[in-house]
Amino acid sequence: MTGSVPAIRTICCIGAGYVGGPTMAVIADRCPGVQVTVVDLNAERIAAWNDADLSRLPVYEPGLDAVVGRCRGRNLFFSTEVEAGIAAADMVFLSVNTPTKTKGLGAGQASDLRWVEASARSVAAHAQGHTIVVEKSTLPVRTAATVQAILQAAQGEAECKTFSVLSNPEFLAEGTAVPDLEQPDRVLIGGDDPQAIEALASVYAHWVPEDRILRTNLWSSELSKLTANAFLAQRISSINSIAAFCESTGADVREVARAIGTDSRIGPKFLQAGPGFGGSCFQKDILNLVYLCGHYGLHEVAAYWQSVVDLNAWQQHRIARLVVNNLFGTVTGKRLAVLGFAFKADTNDTRDAPAIRICRDLLEEGADLAIYDPKVAPEQIARDLGMAPSASSSGLTGEGRWQLAGSVHDAVCSADAVLILTEWQAFRQLSWPELAPQMRQPAWVFDARAVVDPEQVRAAGLRLWRVGDGNIG
Ligand code: NAD
Ligand code: UGA
Repeated sequence: MTGSVPAIRTICCIGAGYVGGPTMAVIADRCPGVQVTVVDLNAERIAAWNDADLSRLPVYEPGLDAVVGRCRGRNLFFSTEVEAGIAAADMVFLSVNTPTKTKGLGAGQASDLRWVEASARSVAAHAQGHTIVVEKSTLPVRTAATVQAILQAAQGEAECKTFSVLSNPEFLAEGTAVPDLEQPDRVLIGGDDPQAIEALASVYAHWVPEDRILRTNLWSSELSKLTANAFLAQRISSINSIAAFCESTGADVREVARAIGTDSRIGPKFLQAGPGFGGSCFQKDILNLVYLCGHYGLHEVAAYWQSVVDLNAWQQHRIARLVVNNLFGTVTGKRLAVLGFAFKADTNDTRDAPAIRICRDLLEEGADLAIYDPKVAPEQIARDLGMAPSASSSGLTGEGRWQLAGSVHDAVCSADAVLILTEWQAFRQLSWPELAPQMRQPAWVFDARAVVDPEQVRAAGLRLWRVGDGNIG
């Protein structure tokens, strides 16, 4: 395509998930002159996005209900009509899932690109005129070549169709998606068609300052996304490795994090020790990087990034193990209150949540888990643990089991220990003098998020383990 920058009046986004929904809602909010349609094959998800009750949107994000409430039905639409959405669009975003492959070539490492390919084929079949196709999903470097090849085949068949492919990875974090989208550190656009790049930049220019819109070639953009996630995750594995060392030596990881974080070259963010990183992307994207490095023969580079993922798994198994060790070497038949199941606060997402690995280890040891999370549905917990909730919690069967607790109080009642696995604000304000008498003594608090006040826990007569300074009470 040559000539002037095309004006974008209609946008279609394929994929109404954690990225597609919030991202398109903010674009619609900031660009009232652009009609935005989010399409998905999942009719249940689309129905939830269209629910009159905004508290029932399929993605929980603080502030998202207000944004959707302002735009939905005005210039923001959610639909299962994928073909019609594509046909009407000047610009199509691909925001579909790209999980780790579970079988076949590259299983356990490579990204499964079947949904990207399927959506690219839908665009090839149904687009009309000139269409700018934007990779919003996180993709292996050089995926744009595949998307281009699929689109070019359609272009060859119908001369009235033309395409430009851009990479525009998303950097939002769950729980802060709305502010991350409204005030991004940067927007990254990779491509080789200057007009298409400027057309997408003009959409973001409605609210993002020009100096925050970065332009690169396609491959740099794709690789920058994987690299950003790898660097963020690497900081978490680094601080968690030091947390374990602190626990052995009497140092406190929070003091160490403050001491190193004040060095402006290191900076204070992403130095919070915890139960290891979770979420749908850090592990998936690093494994993908590992796979790609191996593919290009860079085995030492692959091993370096693999160690970030290995350390993370080790931290989670370590926490489960120290719970067992502190409870006299056995948790069989013991009631353990698990506070928090989401992979971080302010989201209902449990994908790769640390709670899954830690709970599975404890179930394997025969524990009775009482799980409370303010936002995660019980069916989701059952899917994640691969086990239905048990009807009763009594008896020393030796078989691990879990029950849903309706409140912190319900979870803690008769428990031998409390494990805090998500940093929900409410867990910072628990009244330990009220909770402690409900527990079976001697009782423990294992604080994997460092959210409790150690003085209060100790004053309530409870023993305390806190990530990064160990058994401190
Ligand atoms: P998601 O699973 O929540 O949503 C993807 C949606 O795409 C699903 O609803 C699915 O039904 C739909 N879909 C798949 N194939 C389709 C097709 N052919 N036609 C129509 N709909 C189709 O995934 P997500 O968390 O939104 O992530 C999407 C992408 O964004 C991934 O590549 C991910 O790595 C990346 N990403 C995610 C986050 C995050 O915070 N979740 C942040 C940045 C980037
Ligand atoms: C992360 C990145 O921060 C986003 O920039 C990126 O867009 C996104 O992945 C993605 O590609 O999906 P997200 O996973 O939603 O976002 O959330 P984070 O805030 O990064 O937290 C990830 C995990 O690391 C959580 O389990 C969190 O509890 C943990 N974490 C984070 C720590 O243990 N310590 C920290 O200091 C920070």
